[in-house]
Amino acid sequence: MNKVYITTAIPYMNGSPHIGHAMDYVQADVSARYYRLLGDDVKFQVGSDEHGGKVFQKATAQGVTVEAFVDENVAKLKDFIAKLDVSYTDFVRTTNTDHIRRCQEIWRKLSEHIYKDKYEGWYCTGCERFVTDKEYEECNGVCPDHQKSYERLEEENYYFRISDFKDQIREAILADRVLILPDFRKKEILKLLEESPDVSISRPKEQLSWGVPVPGDDNQTMYVWIDALSNYITILGYPERDISDWWPATAQFVGKDILRFHAIIWPAMLLALGLPLPKTIVSHGMILVGGVKMSKSVGNVVDPVDVIERHGADAFRYYFLRHIDTFADSDFTWEKFENAYNNELANDLGNLVQRLATLMSKNDIALPSASAILPKKYQSLMEKFEFSKAFDFVWEEVQAINKRIDEEKPWMLAKNGERIKLEECLIGLARELLKVNLMLGPFLPETNEKIVEIFSGKITAPKTPLFPKN
Ligand code: MSP
Repeated sequence: MNKVYITTAIPYMNGSPHIGHAMDYVQADVSARYYRLLGDDVKFQVGSDEHGGKVFQKATAQGVTVEAFVDENVAKLKDFIAKLDVSYTDFVRTTNTDHIRRCQEIWRKLSEHIYKDKYEGWYCTGCERFVTDKEYEECNGVCPDHQKSYERLEEENYYFRISDFKDQIREAILADRVLILPDFRKKEILKLLEESPDVSISRPKEQLSWGVPVPGDDNQTMYVWIDALSNYITILGYPERDISDWWPATAQFVGKDILRFHAIIWPAMLLALGLPLPKTIVSHGMILVGGVKMSKSVGNVVDPVDVIERHGADAFRYYFLRHIDTFADSDFTWEKFENAYNNELANDLGNLVQRLATLMSKNDIALPSASAILPKKYQSLMEKFEFSKAFDFVWEEVQAINKRIDEEKPWMLAKNGERIKLEECLIGLARELLKVNLMLGPFLPETNEKIVEIFSGKITAPKTPLFPKN
């Protein structure tokens, strides 16, 4: 059984979830459910990012303790994820004591690449990162994502030497060893990688106390992103447990706004820890409302619970998985949502099920339970104990597949390098064969088992044919 590890970004616990937060969850969930359908063993992480200046400031502004504040927001997040019908297996909270201890051990393991330095620069608490002077000038000192002025900070912090890993990261990205999707983001990341300075990974405790203490230095708190990114492996028990069953992750789902952390800092951390890089990072676009970014000041924040309550989780999932582009920015409007619901879910799928079920019930036709995919003719002959005729019928199907192979000539497709057509043709034929094989079962049980074995997993043709000729 294949092991599959799917991860999602962990949202800041500075407020209630909004519809933008749903993207990671619905995309990751479709993937997790798909792999389960294939029979894979799936681990699916979700969680909450509870530390950092922005969470602390919000709690203080509301006059509540930060612990009570994050507890309340975590409860809202869990409720939201449950309402979306997300089949996660593990929930990680960054305030969990095991997570904190493991983060400190990760820090120690990174120490060869960490140094202390003075820094003066512009910081955005919304992004929780320092921006370069160039970025500061380009947006006139106001963060375009958060509409907040950058703060000037002068601090002595610890730095992580990203430059130690730039070459390895570039090579891994170029060779798709860590596959960044969509492809057009890859170029952006490669450019950013070249420009990336070493990253400050701590803040003085007097500036920021709400976070993981830096081991061995009472005056410093870990930068929230180091703590947050570590969640993907602390939840697996790293470093005290061997995580090779699950790591590297099959797919990490994140929004485009935080791809830089996942495609530069995170790979650098993993390389420093001697761990493999994730197989894929899937980065979705932003959800806009009425064409603009959601924001409290614009007053266009859509409460996801309202959307779910309108027509249920599947209507939400339908809209966000079909009408919100998988990779590009897309718009949510109630009008579009209602149209999709009425014209597609209700008219197409809802109607189809309704009509078919009505016709069948009116005419008193039921589906045979266990044998739903067996042809009627076969069943009728078998139930009449007409074995030779039933076998004739099965044999006609065997011959028909042989004829299809002769006509479709898959060997020519192989020869011409038409890979997609070849796969379609052979998979189609094998599916037909497996259907026929079901019917063969009662007749030739040993052969039936052999055919199932041959066509499961990686296929190897048997050394001797099933029925060697005399
Ligand atoms: N805490 C960090 C993630 C740490 S992961 C180690 C963070 N939190 S967030 O709350 O700002 O965002 C959480 C996820 O929601 C991210 O994947 C982000 O891209 C996504 N979205 C937040 N707003 C969004 C939209 N309006 N549209 C689509 N996704 C958006 O970043």
